[in-house]
Amino acid sequence: MINKQHFGKRTADLRRRLGLSQAELAEKLGISAQAVSKWETAAALPDVELLLELSKLYGVSVNELLESNGLLARIANCSFQAKDGIVYFVPAETDSERVQWERDMQTEGWIARNWHDAWGQPGGWAASEYGRNVIGERGRPSDLRIGRKIAEHGGVILDIGSGPGGGYMPFILQADPSAQIIISDLSHTVVEEWKRLLDQEMDSPFLYYAALDFCDIPFESCTVDVIADHGGVINCIGDQSSALRECYRVLKPGGIFVSLNGFVTKETLAALPEHAQQALLKEYPSIFNDLYADTVLAGFRKIDSMITDTWTTDEDDSGIAEFARSLGVTLQFTEYVRFCEK
Ligand SMILES: C[S@@+](CC[C@H](N)C(=O)[O-])C[C@H]1O[C@@H](n2cnc3c(N)ncnc32)[C@H](O)[C@@H]1O
Repeated sequence: MINKQHFGKRTADLRRRLGLSQAELAEKLGISAQAVSKWETAAALPDVELLLELSKLYGVSVNELLESNGLLARIANCSFQAKDGIVYFVPAETDSERVQWERDMQTEGWIARNWHDAWGQPGGWAASEYGRNVIGERGRPSDLRIGRKIAEHGGVILDIGSGPGGGYMPFILQADPSAQIIISDLSHTVVEEWKRLLDQEMDSPFLYYAALDFCDIPFESCTVDVIADHGGVINCIGDQSSALRECYRVLKPGGIFVSLNGFVTKETLAALPEHAQQALLKEYPSIFNDLYADTVLAGFRKIDSMITDTWTTDEDDSGIAEFARSLGVTLQFTEYVRFCEK
């Protein structure tokens, strides 16, 4: 649907990116500066000829200029439902544990807390009954560094399994508030809650919202410049190898897949008592898989890994940490970020 507000914000931002004033753009197009001002304040839309001129000048399709879902409509490889600026490729969660998780996320305000922590603002976890989120806080400098790298690469950025933390999105936006990011998750609630918050916080015409399954990404091949994965694939609902293959498929040649992961080395596993080894391999086999082989098999050739942190389950309150405690063992995780180029 044509959206004047969206058009106004997008065209103003694209003009600024080219370093043009309203008067300079007006001169290029042979129209008055008032006409440009009217578009940007959502008081009017240009006629078709001028829309085509703008689309050529800015290198974006007319649909993307006019529709808030224009980008997703262009790259989708199937039909979808859209409502209130969100595109739904998957049905809502029905699993009772997931539904309860979504409820907790809403009632405890996880998304807003994580957003404020990512920006180093008050309103994060420190003020909650849970106290400081030690690991999240420690990861912030490297998340900011990686967010900057992703923003520098630019183009269409797909954040997969954005989750209540928002993945790399809050860090990318700190480097470039007009980055073009698709915020995505299997959970409708995650995507809807992020839209609600970001409409207030950023009001950016470059943020897109999609409920999708990253094991079967509903996009055409070679349509995305960056895939940002802040711990989504390692917590994948579905098959991790399919997820990696899908990431490879939708990336443009030269595009990058940036993936944050944490795993426990085989040496750590071997040093544990036999009963703990067996129980962990049964309940949490993926924590011993660093996904390197699957990443190569997906097609990625240039893969750089960077260790960003190490932590133990003693410092953590995740399900795995509680399970390790119940077995009387401590696990050391190595966290790394992998930059994979197509
Ligand atoms: C633990 S969170 C990952 C961390 C998250 N990126 C963050 O920054 O908070 C995992 C997220 O991935 C999502 N997820 C898991 N499997 C998925 C799939 N196949 N497709 C899309 N999202 C998925 C979950 O719904 C959840 O929100």
